[in-house]
Order: sequence, then structure tokens, then C-alpha cells
Amino acid sequence: MTRLIVLEGLDGAGTTTQARRLVAHLNAKGGKAHLTREPSDGPIGQLIRQMLTGHHAIENQAIAQSTFGLLFAADRLDHLQREVEVQLAAGAMVVSDRWYHSSLAYQGTGADRDWITTLNARARKPDLTIFLSVRPEVAAARRISAGRIQELFEDMRMQEEVAAGYKATISELAAQGERIETIDGEASPDAVFGAIVALVGTLAP
Ligand SMILES: Nc1ncnc2c1ncn2[C@@H]1O[C@H](COP(=O)(O)OP(=O)(O)O)[C@@H](O)[C@H]1O
Ligand SMILES: [Mg+2]
Repeated sequence: MTRLIVLEGLDGAGTTTQARRLVAHLNAKGGKAHLTREPSDGPIGQLIRQMLTGHHAIENQAIAQSTFGLLFAADRLDHLQREVEVQLAAGAMVVSDRWYHSSLAYQGTGADRDWITTLNARARKPDLTIFLSVRPEVAAARRISAGRIQELFEDMRMQEEVAAGYKATISELAAQGERIETIDGEASPDAVFGAIVALVGTLAP
């Protein structure tokens, strides 16, 4: 079963927890599943992670969202070509912790929206995207209790904007026929996982 499954949500929604769990579950059942994430572990993804955590700062000048828009799109095509497509061709199910929905929700909320859409036009459409819906304040509380370093994107006001960005992105892509399922990410980790497994079970073999 060669399928691309994507988990999306605010920072703290639980995508990393659930992506890991899903891949472990699929492999334990005797399938072949590959876990990956964005920013990717490739060179552009590594650069993005450094930039998000304040490396490469110049004279306190914030890095423009349009710069991130370009880098995330470049990372995505590199990630797709050198990792995701290779795994799919080898017969694996690929589970990605974030995909282009994140670019649209984080960088595509303003005037750059059409441009971000164009930059991502060559990125493979997932077979199934699962959005873990969590209120911004719940996501923030989880990040705080996990002791996670505050990244550039992890500011409350911005998270409210990102939540609105996801809402717009999901309705737009769903209207174009993309399969995006929203589940309650505020439920217990086991309940969220059960809902994810049920959705993945609906994919045709
Ligand atoms: N359903 C859940 N209920 C409560 N806490 C959760 C849940 N899912 C994840 N967490 C916790 O919230 C924090 C963020 O989870 P994580 O998977 O890293 O989120 P993300 O990758 O979406 O930022 C972690 O400390 C994790 O243990
Ligand atoms: Mg994560």
C-alpha cells in the first residue's frame, strides 16, 4: 500500500506524537511504513530549523515570512524527490509530520497566498491529511509543560492567526477534492490515536 499520509496541526497539537505512533503501529502489523517530517532532515530542512531557532540572526532583523515561504517550498520538493518518492516507490506507506498545509497556514495567510500556492504546485497531494484540531491556548499549555524552547512561530497571537490559516486552507483544499479529515486533538492521546487508525483503515489497499 503506497500512500502518503500527512498529520497537521498547531505547534503542540500532537502531530509528532501521533505520527511516530502511527508508523510504529503500521510496521508492527507487518506493513512497511516510513516516518518523516517537515522541515525535513535534508540540507534545506536543517537550515530552516536553524533559522527558526534564531541562528543566522542579523542585527535583530526578523527573517521575512516570504523567505520562509521559499525555503519551505524548496525543502518540500527536495524532500519529495529524495526521500518521499523513493520510499513510495519501494512500496512503503509514508507518514509525514506536516506538509504544504503548514506553508499555507503559516506563510499563506496574507497577500502571499497565491504565491505560496504556486510555489507548492508541484508537491504531491497526500492521499489523506489528518488535522489535529486543538485550541491555541491548549497547544500553548502543552508546549510550556513540555518545556519546549519558544521558537519564532510559537507565539500566541501568531498561533491564533495560524489556526485561522488552517481553517481557510482546509476548506479551500477540501473544496478542490483533497481528502482532509479533522479530528479532536484535545482528546486523550489514545483516543486521538484510535481515530487516526480508523481513518487510515478507510484508505483503499
Ligand atoms: N492528546 C494529547 N493530550 C495531552 N497531551 C498531549 C497529547 N498529544 C500530545 N501531547 C503532549 O503535548 C506535547 C506536544 O506534543 P507533540 O506531539 O510534540 O506536538 P506537535 O508535534 O504537534 O508540536 C508533548 O508534551 C506531548 O506529550
Ligand atoms: Mg512536532
